[in-house]
Amino acid sequence: MDNPFRDEPLTRSLPQPCTVIIFGATGDLTHRKLIPAFYNVAADGDLPSGLRIVGFARRPKSDEEFRSDLEAINRKVSRQGHNDALWETFSQSIYYHQSEFQDLEGYQALAERLDKLDEERGGHPNRLFYLASAPEFFDDIMLHLKESGLCDAKPGGWSRVVVEKPFGVDLPTAQHLNNVVNSTFAEKETYRIDHYLGKETAQNIMVLRFANAIFEPLWNSRYIDHIQITCAENLGMEGGRGGYYDKSGALRDMVQNHLLQLLSLVAMEPPVDLSADGVRDEKVKVFKSLRHMETPEEVAQNVVRAQYTPGVVDGEKVVGYRQEDRVNLESQTEPFVAVKAMVDSWRWQGVPFYIRMGKRLPKKATEISIHFRRAPEVLFNTLPSRGRSNVMVIRIQPNEGIALRMMSKLPGPSIRMEGVKMDFQYSTSFGNKSPEAYERLLLDAMAGDATLFARRDEVEEAWKFIDCIEHAWHKSSDPPPMAEYPAGSWGPKEADDLLARDGRYWRRL
Ligand code: BG6
Repeated sequence: MDNPFRDEPLTRSLPQPCTVIIFGATGDLTHRKLIPAFYNVAADGDLPSGLRIVGFARRPKSDEEFRSDLEAINRKVSRQGHNDALWETFSQSIYYHQSEFQDLEGYQALAERLDKLDEERGGHPNRLFYLASAPEFFDDIMLHLKESGLCDAKPGGWSRVVVEKPFGVDLPTAQHLNNVVNSTFAEKETYRIDHYLGKETAQNIMVLRFANAIFEPLWNSRYIDHIQITCAENLGMEGGRGGYYDKSGALRDMVQNHLLQLLSLVAMEPPVDLSADGVRDEKVKVFKSLRHMETPEEVAQNVVRAQYTPGVVDGEKVVGYRQEDRVNLESQTEPFVAVKAMVDSWRWQGVPFYIRMGKRLPKKATEISIHFRRAPEVLFNTLPSRGRSNVMVIRIQPNEGIALRMMSKLPGPSIRMEGVKMDFQYSTSFGNKSPEAYERLLLDAMAGDATLFARRDEVEEAWKFIDCIEHAWHKSSDPPPMAEYPAGSWGPKEADDLLARDGRYWRRL
């Protein structure tokens, strides 16, 4: 049915034909996210013709073996199911190149192979290098891309790199990584992927704020009391993830990137235009305005870290964090964190942004809630006040949408009020299931649109904020304590106290 409100696209650069070279091609990310994303883009008919994918990894494997491994996983995880005929055509453009990451000859051989493929099969000399390997190989990969000349754009073509998180583990390592990457690729050819920015609902934050006249006038400290960003996960350390996670923790794994990115979209000023730098200039100002916690006492007051103890999730008994596979029995890593962050800008003076992220919570859900100040209580002041403020909830996932809670009179002769909800759901309004974040981001990287990718200064500014907290936890003589919560609960009591001290409480999801 025609939708009279649907305009022609505002801006959309088209993805260009290229060869995508994936480093770390035998890993989980390639199998579960990248190839299914390419496949679904192909199913939508949006894949540029002449696209080729070359997987680069250490294990010996033929093209055919690689294709059939990918097929097995695609059957299980593809958003639009698996169509044999489509897979047959699509998979013919996938190749495998075996080499150690440290072996320059492997890169030289790759350069020859790519040229040969271009000659034999035709196509454009554009190259998109994708770093999906473990981060300890990034330095070697960058060095050899440079030494082999692979990173140099061919006449009439371009050469870009997509970098997966983690972008370092603190500011110095992030700066090092940025230096290494930028000595091989210019910043404008560097695409740091943060898959939260590819989620439809995250992209909708700017539209909600700047394409509607009714919200933006209220979007400031005069009308907003506080903002909550919650990312709950029911999963623990499945699939051997404990090894990576125990060196990272919730703050580095999710807050430094995904959740601070969401915060920046909610808090930023309107950009001058929708260009990549127009948007990122405004986001970086938010990161720069985050108030740093300078002392362990400040960290203890504003941040809660916690580990789960054994409990029940989805009806099943689960072990505590320290008993998880590949997690240190005396681990000081936090699978849960709650932060009270302040953005020291004119617009947000005095408005706390409460962020919480936890593993082994009761369910998987990510949302942002905007809690407005209460109406003056001169008329209905005899009625209970808890739960009376207007709240706008932006559901990032699942059940993507936006809800607005307001007070309404209950039908009947006396004045009794109850909170009611106006609810917009993507699935009802737009039908189709939203594309996966990776689909959108891969298309953008092929189109040369970096708007939804993190710029170097954003990443580094975010680390400055995070490093103060990590420093208090791991380097001070009197580190703030580690709290506990039973797996399957909504986190430790200390996280509730963090808000209770301010006369507030976490929204129940
Ligand atoms: C990843 C983190 O970046 O994001 C994981 O490393 C986390 O720990 C995941 O589970 C969450 O992504 P999503 O899209 O499932 O919310």
